[in-house]
Amino acid sequence: MNEAMGRIGAFLLLAGVLLAGCEADPGADTGSGAAVKQDAVERTGEAPVTAEAYDPARDYFSFANRDGMTVRHIELDLDVDFERQVLRGYAILHVGLTDPAKLAWLQEAESGGPDDAGRTTTGDALRPVYSLTLDSRGLQIERASLLDETGGARSLTVSRPDAAPDPVRGHAVRIDLPVDFELAGVFRIRIDYQTGPGASAIMWLPPELTAGGEHPFMFTQSQSIHARSWIPLQDTPAVRFTYDAVIRTPPGLLAVMSADNDPQAQHDGEYHFSMPQPIPSYLMALAVGHLDFAPFGDRTGVYAEPEILPAAAAEFADTQAMLEAAEALWGPYEWGRYDLLILPPSFPYGGMENPRLSFLTPSLIAGDGSLVSVVAHELAHSWSGNLVSNATWRDIWLNEGMTNYLEGRLMEVIYDRERADEERTLNYHDLLDLLGTVPENMQALAPRFDEGDPDVGQDGVEYRKGQLLLDTLEHHFTRPVFDAFLRGYFENFAWQAITTEQFLEYTDQNLLAAHPGVFPRERLEAWLYRPGIPDEAVVPSSASLERAGAAAAAFAGGMSPPDEIPAGRWSPLATVHFLQSLPADLAPERIAALDSALGLTGTGNAEIARTWYTRAAEWRFRPAYPAMRDYLRHYGRIRLLRPVYEALARNGEDLDWAREVFADARANYHPLTVAAIEPILAVESPPTVAAAGH
Ligand code: BES
Ligand code: ZN
Repeated sequence: MNEAMGRIGAFLLLAGVLLAGCEADPGADTGSGAAVKQDAVERTGEAPVTAEAYDPARDYFSFANRDGMTVRHIELDLDVDFERQVLRGYAILHVGLTDPAKLAWLQEAESGGPDDAGRTTTGDALRPVYSLTLDSRGLQIERASLLDETGGARSLTVSRPDAAPDPVRGHAVRIDLPVDFELAGVFRIRIDYQTGPGASAIMWLPPELTAGGEHPFMFTQSQSIHARSWIPLQDTPAVRFTYDAVIRTPPGLLAVMSADNDPQAQHDGEYHFSMPQPIPSYLMALAVGHLDFAPFGDRTGVYAEPEILPAAAAEFADTQAMLEAAEALWGPYEWGRYDLLILPPSFPYGGMENPRLSFLTPSLIAGDGSLVSVVAHELAHSWSGNLVSNATWRDIWLNEGMTNYLEGRLMEVIYDRERADEERTLNYHDLLDLLGTVPENMQALAPRFDEGDPDVGQDGVEYRKGQLLLDTLEHHFTRPVFDAFLRGYFENFAWQAITTEQFLEYTDQNLLAAHPGVFPRERLEAWLYRPGIPDEAVVPSSASLERAGAAAAAFAGGMSPPDEIPAGRWSPLATVHFLQSLPADLAPERIAALDSALGLTGTGNAEIARTWYTRAAEWRFRPAYPAMRDYLRHYGRIRLLRPVYEALARNGEDLDWAREVFADARANYHPLTVAAIEPILAVESPPTVAAAGH
């Protein structure tokens, strides 16, 4: 772009900023999206029509200005310092121009001060001063410089537009480009920095919290908006970039990333990565520990501490077959390798779909492969989420709801329909429970979502209601038609981030209108924009769960002795359903008989343990408490802990005991886990919505 064009662009933009004053989102269909939503709202007359315009294409959880320029590529160079618990080094951001007409700019502050709108003005010497605003949380930025072709660097001014950080969003960082800098093509900004204390994405583990007990471990968890606590960047799923990284670790430890991990890498303490596929920031990931690798097939394998590697390799041996099944359904896997990383038990989630390398909790290692649906889920994200991403955190159902649906389809292939229907049915029951606690304004698949915390979001409604919508569409259009539609959807939106409105338009054109009379657009809009479950939902059911429910009724009614319960032939989910179906008042000796017949206390299956200890806390069944305490201390996975702590806090007797256990276990927990459990124990009365455990 030449100078004249730059100026014209800048002046156009100034007009644009004055008129609209809002953040534009490249590629998002803001106008029609807003209209669609408004329409749906008016037609139904149910959702309140709010005065303030909500822009469905805007990311309310990012400070980054993407007006006209976005980060395309990052070169990371970081030292992993376990002693000081910091990452230190630099990031070089390669920033490219998108739409010059949208460039945000300020004017050189030579003679004028800030005007009413906070812009600096110069009176006569008008020259645009461009600046890049990035997200950050707790980062200590040492300097920023503009790199030129010849290896030179010019120092840049770094400032913080807001005096104090926002508790959820962090602290915006503004980097001003030199006054005489001509914006053109891609330019490079180097930021030297280190992470702050308590960086929200990073967990630093002392050796005693690892399987081996001898080496420290660290891992990152960037979703939803934590990447900004270890890299200064535009932290929004709407921006995708590629990256290269050099990571230095203490000797003997291995670094792995959401990138081209080399299973043969020498463990020499310096690791080079490259990630050629563009990803959104929430998929940036790094882990460092005493790790080994075991292959499953030519494209798949698992990293874990040597002490648990054999068990992990046996548990997840179906991974390569799963990958092939997924490709047969949704088209080629576009990411190169697909490996798993087993983290220490304090990992706060079941799994995280970091590209090429899913991060998993060790609580999935049940000994019989019975909890691999989480692997199916994370693998499925390679299509729904990683290939086609949510444009904003309001659109997260496109990511999680669709992935829950795809997970069900993979479970049919790896197991069978019965097993997949058990999961669908339990998810549906969870959804019914959630609709009793999640406020109506967060029950739409695409709610108005401009405040709160994206980690909490809709507390899991987005997973189950999203899945129910897709199961319902599949049922109405038939599986072959719906499968072809989904393949087209992934192909059409590959490597993009889309809004719910783009999904609606695409689905209307390629599914609803292509098969008139099957599913009117108004019905789809009701799912997207209204609370509750629409009437045409296809409610899942499972014969095996019904049998387990009947067995629970028979046992509760005293009709069947505990040793006649055929739990040995059940899936863990059937056992879960059996336990959940037992009444609130069961005599202690009957609970004890059940416990010994089914081997519940101390069970190695984390899903059964979760339900058993929750029920045990509801029943105040004290013989299970010592094992419950061990379980609560051992795992940091929010989903496993939350219902047990909730039951203890509510049973009228054990709040103090729960507080003691928590105080004791707290040092083993990830900050996100602490944040999810603390509010439960802080209250005397039942909590409503705490942080999510999905
Ligand atoms: N992407 C999520 C984990 C996540 C969600 C992290 C929101 C941060 C914020 C992951 O794919 C997921 O859904 N994990 C589930 C597993 C699952 C089978 C539903 C979990 O961790 O329980
Ligand atoms: Zn997921």
